[in-house]
Amino acid sequence: MTVQIYPAASHPAPEQPIEFAMPPDKSMLHRILFLGSLTQSHIRIPIHSIESISHDAVATVLALESLGVPVEITDDAIDLQGVGRHGLRSPSHTINCANSGTTARLLMGLLAGQPFECTVSGDDSLSKRPMKRVADLLARMGAHISSSATGTLPLTVHGNALRGTNIILPVASAQIKSALLIAGLYAQGETGVREPYPSRDHTERLLEALGFGIEFGNRLTIHPETQPELPDELEFVVPGDPSSAAFLIAAAVLLRRRIRITNLSLNPTRTRFFDVLTLMGVELEATEITELWNEPRGSMTVFGDRTDELMPFEIDESDVPLLIDELPVLMVLALFAHGESSIRGARELRLKESDRIALAVKQFRAFGADIQELDDGMIVSGIPVRRLVPAVIDHGGDHRLTMAFSIAALFCETPTRVPNAEIASVSYPHFYEDLHRFCGDCVEISAL
Ligand code: S3P
Repeated sequence: MTVQIYPAASHPAPEQPIEFAMPPDKSMLHRILFLGSLTQSHIRIPIHSIESISHDAVATVLALESLGVPVEITDDAIDLQGVGRHGLRSPSHTINCANSGTTARLLMGLLAGQPFECTVSGDDSLSKRPMKRVADLLARMGAHISSSATGTLPLTVHGNALRGTNIILPVASAQIKSALLIAGLYAQGETGVREPYPSRDHTERLLEALGFGIEFGNRLTIHPETQPELPDELEFVVPGDPSSAAFLIAAAVLLRRRIRITNLSLNPTRTRFFDVLTLMGVELEATEITELWNEPRGSMTVFGDRTDELMPFEIDESDVPLLIDELPVLMVLALFAHGESSIRGARELRLKESDRIALAVKQFRAFGADIQELDDGMIVSGIPVRRLVPAVIDHGGDHRLTMAFSIAALFCETPTRVPNAEIASVSYPHFYEDLHRFCGDCVEISAL
C-alpha cells in the first residue's frame, strides 16, 4: 500500500470535535491473552472488527494457539478459553512472533518454566533486537535458553524448574519486567522485581485483577502458590491505545483542530505524553473516567483549536519509559515548537523496531530541520510556522516512524509519498483511514 500525503491547511475548528476510537491497547491485549490463558475461565474480549486488531496482537494469539490455548478472533470479539497454569502443551513447530517484541519477550518468560522446549523466531527486524537481556535475567531464575552468540532470535527455551529470585532490572522495561513476573508464576518460592524507573504497569495490574499472587511495594513480588479464583465467564473490554492516539492528536494540535478519542486507556504509566502536551500549552480534558479490571479509561478531548504557539519540552531518563512509544511523534511536535526541545536518556530508542534516533534524525534533517543527534536522544530546534522541504521517506519498516513521518509530511511544501505504508498495521491498522477522515483530501491511499 502506498499513501500520498498532501500539504494540509489549518481550518477553523468545527464546533464539535471529531471523534475517533483507537485499536485496543496493544500492551493490554497481549497481557490479557497471556495471563487469561493461565486461568480456567472463558474470556471474551469485545473488538470493533477483525481489521482493528494490531498485527502484533495477532502474533500473540497465534503463539498461544500453538501452545494449545483455544483462542479465536471473530468479527466482534476475541474468545479465549484459559487452560490453567499447567495446561499449555508442547507446540509442534517454531513459534514465529513476526514483528512483535512484546510477544517474544513475554513468551520467553512463559516458556521458561514449562515442561517442554520450544523455539521462538521473528521477522528480520525482530531478529535483530536484543533478547539476551531477557534470557540472562531469566537464567538467574534457572531458565535454560539457547541461542546464537548474538543472543538474538531464533532461540530455544528448554523449559525447566525455576527458583524465585530477587532481580533489579538494569533498564526500565515493561517487557523485561513482565517476562520475569510471568516466569515467577512457575518458580519455586517468591520472585521479586525492581526497576530503575517505573515503566507501564499493565502486567502487575492484571495479575492482581485476575487474582494471581502479587504484592506491590518498592519491588513487585510474585507469590506463585496463590491460585486465581474467577467466574467461568469473563468479559474484558480493552480500552483504546494511547500510543496510537498520539499520532492523530499531534495532527490535531498542529492543524489547530479539536479531536476526541473515546474509551482511551488513561493508565497513569501511559499518560506522560498528555502531561508533555499540557506543558507545551495544549488544552486537554479527560471525561467519562471509569476503571475496569484495575485499568482507568475515559474520553480525551484535545483542543488544538485553542493552542497558540507550542512551547518546547525537555524529556529526561525518568520520563522515557512512560512515553517511549510516543517519542517519535513528540519529535514531530518539537519541529513546530517555539525554540529548542530535548530528549535525553532515551538510548532504548535505538533498540526498537529500528534505531529510532538515527532514522528520525536523518529524516527530519532531510525535511530541512536543524537537529543535533545525541547518543541517548536529540535536540530539536523548532520553528512555529514552517513548511518542511520535500524529502524521500525512509521509515526503515518501523510502524511508529512511518506514522510519525506521515504526520510531519502534512507540513511539507509538496506531496510526499509514504512507501510500504501498510506497516502501520503492526500497531494501528486503520491509521491512514482515520487520518483521511481527519484531514480529508490530504491523504490518498492506493493499493500499489
Ligand atoms: C511494551 C513496552 C515497551 C514499548 C513496547 C510495548 C510492552 O518496550 O516500547 O512498544 O507492552 O510491554 P520496553 O519494555 O522494551 O521498554
